[in-house]
Amino acid sequence: MATRLVTLRQGDARDAGTVDALMAAAFDPRFGEAWTRSQCLGVLAMPGVRLLLAIVDDEPAGFSLTRAIAGEAELLLLAVAPPFRRTGVGRALMEAVVADCRIQDATILHLEVRADNDALYLYRATGFAKVGERRGYYRGRDGRQYDAHTYSLALGST
Ligand SMILES: CC(C)(COP(=O)(O)OP(=O)(O)OC[C@H]1O[C@@H](n2cnc3c(N)ncnc32)[C@H](O)[C@@H]1OP(=O)(O)O)[C@@H](O)C(=O)NCCC(=O)NCCS
Repeated sequence: MATRLVTLRQGDARDAGTVDALMAAAFDPRFGEAWTRSQCLGVLAMPGVRLLLAIVDDEPAGFSLTRAIAGEAELLLLAVAPPFRRTGVGRALMEAVVADCRIQDATILHLEVRADNDALYLYRATGFAKVGERRGYYRGRDGRQYDAHTYSLALGST
């Protein structure tokens, strides 16, 4: 699919409704990865947290949530609504996250992801390397557990 023109803007707690809608559209409830609104609002109030919203054709298409503190950063959430997938929105968010973490003086970016999540393709393409595993970290709606893998990207090397 052709790459689409993506506009990125920084968000805040006033965008919680938009984030909720994107989260509901993007995350399959089977896997228990989506956050509740109160989890999002709690994290947005913490220092070093950045919400980035991706807009395509005036519509919210995706978002990222990161935290950078004491030289280390973590990608907490990255989501693109299904109609906008495979058009470069996730990559645009990822590139902005990496640039923003550098601006915040982070030297490493961590993330954790369900072991069989398609997001891994994007993370590996960005240069993330696997550093660990957490058995049964995610619990799906039906109680089934899914392993998480942890990845890191050294920000000085990309
Ligand atoms: C992961 C996710 C954010 C990717 O968003 P996206 O906008 O579709 O990603 P992009 O179009 O920018 O893809 C960039 C590259 O990543 C890789 N990629 C992304 N999705 C892929 C998939 N489903 N299968 C294979 N490769 C994929 C490809 O290399 C792609 O480049 P290409 O399309 O030129 O081949 C999106 O699928 C999503 O929201 N998933 C559900 C939420 C989630 O699980 N988030 C991650 C955990 S927080």
